[in-house]
Parts: sequence; structure tokens; C-alpha cells
Amino acid sequence: MAKLVPVDLFDLIIFGGTGDLAMRKLLPALYHRDGDGQIPAGSRIIAASRGHLERGDYLGRVRDAIEKNNGEFNEQQWETFAERIHYVHADASDHDAWGGLVDMLAGHEDRIRVAYLATAPALFGAFASGLRHNGLITDDSRIVLEKPVGHDYASAREINDAIGHCFRENQIYRIDHYLGKETVQNLLALRFANSLFEPLWRRGSIDHVQITVAEDLGVGNRIEFYDRIGTLRDMVQNHLMQLLCLVAMEAPASLDHDSVRDEKMKVLNALRPITADDVRSKTVRAQYTSGAIDGETVPGYLDELGGDSDTETFVALKLEIENWRWSGIPFYLRSGKRLPAKHSEIVVQFDEVPHSIFPEQEYNVRANRLKIRLQPDEGVTLSVMAKEPGPGGFELRPVSLDLSFEETFGVRYPDAYERLLMEVLRGNPALFMRRDEVEAAWQWIDGIIAGWDESKQKVESYVSGSWGPSSSSLLLDRDGRTWQPES
Ligand code: BG6
Repeated sequence: MAKLVPVDLFDLIIFGGTGDLAMRKLLPALYHRDGDGQIPAGSRIIAASRGHLERGDYLGRVRDAIEKNNGEFNEQQWETFAERIHYVHADASDHDAWGGLVDMLAGHEDRIRVAYLATAPALFGAFASGLRHNGLITDDSRIVLEKPVGHDYASAREINDAIGHCFRENQIYRIDHYLGKETVQNLLALRFANSLFEPLWRRGSIDHVQITVAEDLGVGNRIEFYDRIGTLRDMVQNHLMQLLCLVAMEAPASLDHDSVRDEKMKVLNALRPITADDVRSKTVRAQYTSGAIDGETVPGYLDELGGDSDTETFVALKLEIENWRWSGIPFYLRSGKRLPAKHSEIVVQFDEVPHSIFPEQEYNVRANRLKIRLQPDEGVTLSVMAKEPGPGGFELRPVSLDLSFEETFGVRYPDAYERLLMEVLRGNPALFMRRDEVEAAWQWIDGIIAGWDESKQKVESYVSGSWGPSSSSLLLDRDGRTWQPES
């Protein structure tokens, strides 16, 4: 078990304190960290929202949320945790009515102060200026921005400018919760704590890379928000592109935040743009129709929306990184809702052997494949060819060297937010996105969206419970390849 690194006394203000993110992720994450003894006595979690709730009512909601989110609930642990929670009213549009928060923070300037904006991105600027207006930004203050930072390059710049007006870049923590997932960090360990892979991690040994982030759930009650966004902005601009950067980047000189982020930036800068000329051959966008998942009938996106829409719930892309390591090696990315299962993995497909000395048989020599399973059943599988035991002929068979993290380490995997919140409190921005990364990712994504508009690429449909439309398989088929798992 990794050792717990303590954090110093803090005040954490959660704007959007009654919202979905706070209830489903942030407060349960803090409850767990508190249970493990990582939160110093006297630290405060101050939930802020537009409402005017009594503290007791708010605590009731938090308790319900934690009970719902956690298998086990410990009454004594809750009592301790509840003492740390406070509630204040704070409206983004009325900075002069933040008296409750001002009073609560007065005299506590010496502790770490974190403002977490778990609100719509359109309000980020207003909350930051509200903090400044009320003199609440101390030298050791940090601000956390939940994704998405904007909906395109221009809006991301606007938000970054507004926040940058009040906070220094090293005080700003832009969250992509995928960077807090244990297995995503394990990718760094796999690549840079083993000498085995690095010499092979390039063109000349790797045929292509696939990144799949599949969800079986539909859009659910976020449909109004989601319909303005779609999968390219919701998942690809951030989670998939961050995974891509970690797979493709050069070894950073250290784990220092700027070393890692500088290397990720180089990948983003080397991405070949996808424009109107090639969106049709390099991108697929589609929307789910009704179907069945796990034997249950589920409605289509338009039925759920109750109207017409061109928003995609599935995206597949073929992209190229123009540098010495990766030139000519395709990266295939896909993400979608209402696919057969919640299943995220990175597949590194190595080259075929240059010449097989074995006779034709049921299993011809197959190229090695490294699978990094992000969720569920986190782990790594390396498929290699082996000889079937027996005195007969030389029968080959692919076998897996399989490492399941859960079986190996036998510990509870902390939720990504647990780690990320502690990193903010410790003042380590390595697992957060720097301004230039977010903006570079948006610039690349904006090119695809402009290409879709210009070429009038319509959204296709796919049946819920399938692996997306047939054009997604075709994207690889045209190159003589198939998705893993095959679709
Ligand atoms: C969020 C997206 O960032 O990530 C959601 O907005 C998506 O649409 C979620 O469902 C997936 O996260 P996870 O951790 O469940 O894979």
C-alpha cells in the first residue's frame, strides 16, 4: 500500500456545493480521505451554492449521497467528517452578498485555501472575480476548474484569461479526472519504470495504437447539457487526448509538473490537423438509437431528448503524430455511450514477425499485443505466441501474460478525485492540465468540428448495445486492421 502523504490544514470551498459533481464525486472522495486519516483536524469543507440552506439540511443531503455512493458507511467516520462541513450562500452574479463566506474565512489566511469550481464553465470567471472582489485570494490560494474548460478554443481562452486575471498559472488546477485514475498513472510506471518497452515503443516495432473509452450508460439526465456538447467535446478533447499524450510522449526528465506537461504539449503540437478534406476518411460520428444492453431494452437518444438533434454520442478517429517516433503509425481513438459495456483500454499492437519459420496452422504467428485495461478489471495483458505442449508437431497458440492489479495488490482502488483533491492540497499540479495544453487540444478539436460543418458530415446512427456504426469498423478495416475488442 502506498504511504499516505499528509496534507496541511486547509479550507476547501466548493462552489456548486449542492450539484451533481459535489455530491457524487467530491464529498464521497473527501469522506474516504478523511477515513484514511489524511485530513488534518480543523480543516474545513465549505460548500457554497445559490440556495439558502440550513447546515443541517445540507449535511442530510451529503450523508445521503455518501451512503448511496459507498458500499460501506461508517457512522463514527461520518460524525467526524460532518464536523468539517459547512454551508454558505454565494451567488456568482452577486459578489456583494458573499458575507457568509467572507466571515467564515476571516482570520484563516494562514491555511491552504482552495476554491473548487464545480459549476458550469460559463460561471468560472464570475466566481474567480467574486473571490478577488471580496479579498479572498491569499498568496497560497488555489483554484480548481472542472472540465470542460470552454466549448472551443475561443471560449477556453476567454475562461483562462478571466481566471488568469485573478490567479497565477501555478495556482490554477484544471481537472481531467482521467489523470487521477490509478491505471492511467500506471501507464507512466509501465512506460518509464521498465526498460523493456521503451526501445520498442516507436515506429519500427509498433504497427498501431488503439484507445477505447466505452460506456454502456446513455446520456441520462445530463441530456440538455450534453446535446450542446457531444462526445468529441465531452470525452475526446480531454480524456482521450490526455491518454494519447501519455502513450505517445517522450520520457519526461522527471515527474516534475512542467517536465510532464512540456512533453504532452509536444505531442499535441505534432498532431496532424484533420480538416474538411479528410474528416470523412478519418472520423466517424454517430448517435445511438434504441436497442438492448445486458438484455434490457433502452431508448434511443432522440426519444430521450424528445426532439431532433445532430449531436454525436459516438466518435471514432484515426490520427497521426508527425514526429520521428510516430511518423506513419496510426492512432485510432473511439468513445461512445450505450456501447455493450463500460470498457476502457489502450491497445498497443506490435509488428508482425518479419518471417515465420513455422508451418501454416490454426494459429499462425500473431503479432504481440499489449493491452492496458483502464476499467474495469484494471491491469495489463501482453499476448505472446507459445508452443502448445506435447510431442506432436510444432503447434503454436497465443497466450496472455496477464497482470490484474486488483489481484496483485489486493487493495481498494481510490477514486480519481481522491487523489486529485489531495494533489491540489499538496500543491502538485503535475496531474492537471496547463493552459497551453487545454488550448492546443481545443484548437485541434475545433479543426474537426469545422471540417464536419464544412463537409456537412451528418451524424450516423448505431444501435444501443453495439460497438458503434459499421463505418467505425471500416475506419480500421480499410487499413487491414480491427478494433479490440472486435466490433
Ligand atoms: C466525464 C464525461 O468527463 O467522464 C461523462 O463528462 C462521462 O460524459 C465520464 O460519462 C466518464 O468517466 P468515468 O470515470 O466513468 O470513465
